[in-house]
Amino acid sequence: MKQISTEKDLSTALASSIKSKKTIGFVPTMGALHRGHISLIETCKKQCDTTIVSIFVNPTQFNDKKDFERYPRTIDNDLALLKKAGVDFVFLPNEKLIYPKPDKRKFNFGKLDQLLEGKHRPGHFNGVAQVVSRLLEMIKPDKLFLGQKDFQQVMVIRELIKQLKSPVKVVVCPTVRDDENLAMSSRNANLSDEEYDEATFIPIWLEEVKKLATRYKVSQIKARIETLIARREIMKLDYFEICDTETLEPIKEFSETDQAVALIAVFVGKTRLIDNVLM
Ligand code: PAF
Repeated sequence: MKQISTEKDLSTALASSIKSKKTIGFVPTMGALHRGHISLIETCKKQCDTTIVSIFVNPTQFNDKKDFERYPRTIDNDLALLKKAGVDFVFLPNEKLIYPKPDKRKFNFGKLDQLLEGKHRPGHFNGVAQVVSRLLEMIKPDKLFLGQKDFQQVMVIRELIKQLKSPVKVVVCPTVRDDENLAMSSRNANLSDEEYDEATFIPIWLEEVKKLATRYKVSQIKARIETLIARREIMKLDYFEICDTETLEPIKEFSETDQAVALIAVFVGKTRLIDNVLM
């Protein structure tokens, strides 16, 4: 596995793949790697000749400076995991390389980035779009691998790719869960034992939501989840919505859509977790 931290080394590394017409698969990450990332890498390795993973904790996508500072950084462990997973290249840019000058670009994703995460974390998706567009420009992969856990992020990045007229193909991989069914997330590392136990209610509630959908109205299901969370002392609901998978607009009746998705964001202590389930 080759570590790359300059643009020149990056083009040298990728030149031979491009010359020999090998397909390049790219997995962007912010580090603190876990089984979710490894499953993206495994899928990438199956579908592409060359696998490149980036690790960059992107400051522009954090609307809260403290959240950026708290974000777990475990670089030695990450490198060991990537080596074991058989990654070809790991790209470790510094901030100057990604943003040689402050990135002032403002993307327009319409309603898509004003709902849910976009509403609760203003500017978040603009920052994601800034970093992803830079990484795509530098790496020029054939395929980009993303996780379904970040449902809205996938939709925003698809729209970004459309706007950039980039030929990269997006591959979405299923959410990986731990033994207690909690969605794997780098943020789980910040949970205390007590918080972890509380967090394991999230997938239980989402499974319940799926069952309730056959008998109850959207408003009743929402009220049920809000009540359940209000009862938990160390949890605070940021949002829970049932939305159309095509537009991500919240629905009032299940009859409004062919396919709905339930999305949740909850603070467990100071850690904000997100999850979703297709219904
Ligand atoms: O999902 C993430 O880890 C980040 O948002 C991404 C896509 C690597 C951009 O910083």
